[in-house]
Amino acid sequence: VAIARAAAAAAPDLPALAAAMAAFEHCEIKRGARNAVFADGQPGARVMIVGEAPGREEDRAGKPFVGQAGQMLDRMLAAIDLGRAHENTDRAVYITNVMPWRPPSNRTPDADEIAMMLPFLERHIALADPQIIVLMGNTPCQALLGQTGITALRGTWTEVLGKPCLPMFHPAYLLRNPAAKREAWADLLTLNARLKT
Ligand code: URA
Repeated sequence: VAIARAAAAAAPDLPALAAAMAAFEHCEIKRGARNAVFADGQPGARVMIVGEAPGREEDRAGKPFVGQAGQMLDRMLAAIDLGRAHENTDRAVYITNVMPWRPPSNRTPDADEIAMMLPFLERHIALADPQIIVLMGNTPCQALLGQTGITALRGTWTEVLGKPCLPMFHPAYLLRNPAAKREAWADLLTLNARLKT
């Protein structure tokens, strides 16, 4: 983790951070992955979304949230007029994951793996400098809040690195549990209200 912290701290900007992560050799998950998936959307966006890890499509494309969960995420964002390629920079988002590599069989990254990559995520947030952070599901909550239990955490604003932060259900969870879209909608409305202030 000290090596990760030093590598992350040495990156002066986002391209340098992406290169430092792609070159980082101290996380086993990297071995089975095709691509390092860094981010998508607009780096200067007011909203930064943090997911878990790439899946099969993301590993192929080298971009976060391009598979089914990603399409769900895009629909959720569009419902409150946000988007990764929104022409209005005020409504743009920037998207990344806790883990830049696809875990074997899409398993959840474990606590050691999350801790290893956390310095990169924290540096990523500092360099992107969003106004608001959205945590999609348990893994980013574990990384940045040190807590899991998304059912209890979701919908309540908290703070990460001095920034307002909203945990939400992960879009892949919503695909499996459509009834939870009710809570996700409530959370999108609270996000939208915060953006108007
Ligand atoms: N799920 C995630 O958490 N991130 C992705 O990039 C894709 C699916």
